[in-house]
Amino acid sequence: MLNRTAQASGNELTAWDRDHFFHPSTHMAQHARGETPNRIVAGGEGVYIVDREGKRSLDAFAGLYCVNVGYGRREITDAIAAQAAQLSYYHAYVGHGSEPSIRLAKMIIDRAPKNMSRVFFGLSGSDANETNIKLVWYVNNVLKRPQKKKIISRWRGYHGSGVMTGSLTGLAAFHNLFDLPKAPVLHTEAPYYFRRADRSQSEEQFSQFCADKLEEMILAEGPDTIAAFIGEPVLGTGGIVPPPAGYWPKIQAVLRKYDILLIADEVITGFGRLGSMFGSDHYGIEPDLITIAKGLTSAYAPLSGVIVSEKVWRILEKGSDEFGAIGHGWTYSSHPLCAAAGVANLGVIDDLELVNNAREVGGYFKQALKAAFDKHRNVGDVRGEGLLAAVEFVRDRDDRVFFDAQDKVGPRIVAALLERGVIARAMPQGDIMGFAPPLCLTREEADKIVAAAKGAVDEVAASL
Ligand SMILES: Cc1ncc(COP(=O)(O)O)c(C=O)c1O
Repeated sequence: MLNRTAQASGNELTAWDRDHFFHPSTHMAQHARGETPNRIVAGGEGVYIVDREGKRSLDAFAGLYCVNVGYGRREITDAIAAQAAQLSYYHAYVGHGSEPSIRLAKMIIDRAPKNMSRVFFGLSGSDANETNIKLVWYVNNVLKRPQKKKIISRWRGYHGSGVMTGSLTGLAAFHNLFDLPKAPVLHTEAPYYFRRADRSQSEEQFSQFCADKLEEMILAEGPDTIAAFIGEPVLGTGGIVPPPAGYWPKIQAVLRKYDILLIADEVITGFGRLGSMFGSDHYGIEPDLITIAKGLTSAYAPLSGVIVSEKVWRILEKGSDEFGAIGHGWTYSSHPLCAAAGVANLGVIDDLELVNNAREVGGYFKQALKAAFDKHRNVGDVRGEGLLAAVEFVRDRDDRVFFDAQDKVGPRIVAALLERGVIARAMPQGDIMGFAPPLCLTREEADKIVAAAKGAVDEVAASL
């Protein structure tokens, strides 16, 4: 039996990890056999993490694009501790609440795009998107439109890995072998200008092409069967791809024409990452529902939410007048510890002006990446918005020839970068080095990332 008071040695932890810990998004057999690294992270401060071996790395991906205020912020850890001492839990069913959850709902609406009304809290981006889909179906039942139920998502969109949200996600790796429901979900064109099939198209023309494809799909399926469209303001896990010029206005015009609700999945973009409080404001999107998570608490505690527009809220109210209380909720909806983390986190974002910092340092970072890589023979695209950026690698930049996935060029570059003390993410579909550092990044830290990235790319390119 485990001695609960003795400190485990590194070797013991590694053995227990291999034998007992089922990691998400991990090659299960290789990990169990000890063929892949098991990095045990022990601490963090600012933009750095430290592992048990004492190796310090600049985390240029903020965990999973979530530790937006950086590691070790006492304002947030103190707020969680104080809330735990006062009231560690009470539920929010049948009108109950706690001060931090009510306060946080108010703070979110104060910062949200216009015409937003209420916040429903969950724990993860996935569960918040499950809530969105249920609300969309509920709304169309209240409106007596029982056929209007299909959801259009996009190839390369990422909306979670639950049963429904896994279907919404437009990445094959999240579908394979899982028997997810396909019927109510359709996928349309990804707004990925760099990978457009017709390279003669301008950005505006490609945006029009995406909007036309969407309209074709709606007409083919029947507009009265399509309930909602879900999209991230900037494609995230699908490759970190800002939309081409004119994309969102053109998409929204189509959705309005056919009375289709728009869900903006702002799990990555919410609370400042693009240099605006919300991606919807950044691109002039007017969503009916908004998904939030990650940056809401900077991952100091798990918390997500659905921000419901006034228009949708009125229909929900009508529904409960007709059919009674809504049968939807989680034990941990608006957990007081997580809500206290959220209140303190939004305070830190305001006090340190991190949204402005994301815009300013993000612009500087993108220019520095462009200066370092724009002429590199193996770099096809350098893109980004705020503190979200990507470098995409190709075998031949002039003819846009991609590498074979088996060559693992992206993962090799990201591994070489880690050797230099900087964490980026090898994005799962394509040879793409992704960056999403904490929003408190300084210009000096940005320079460090770019210098290390240049070294890593040159090293791997020399071996190709
Ligand atoms: C845009 C987007 N939506 C939803 C999710 C799912 O969030 P979670 O992993 O908290 O379930 C993610 C996670 O990365 C995301 O990036």
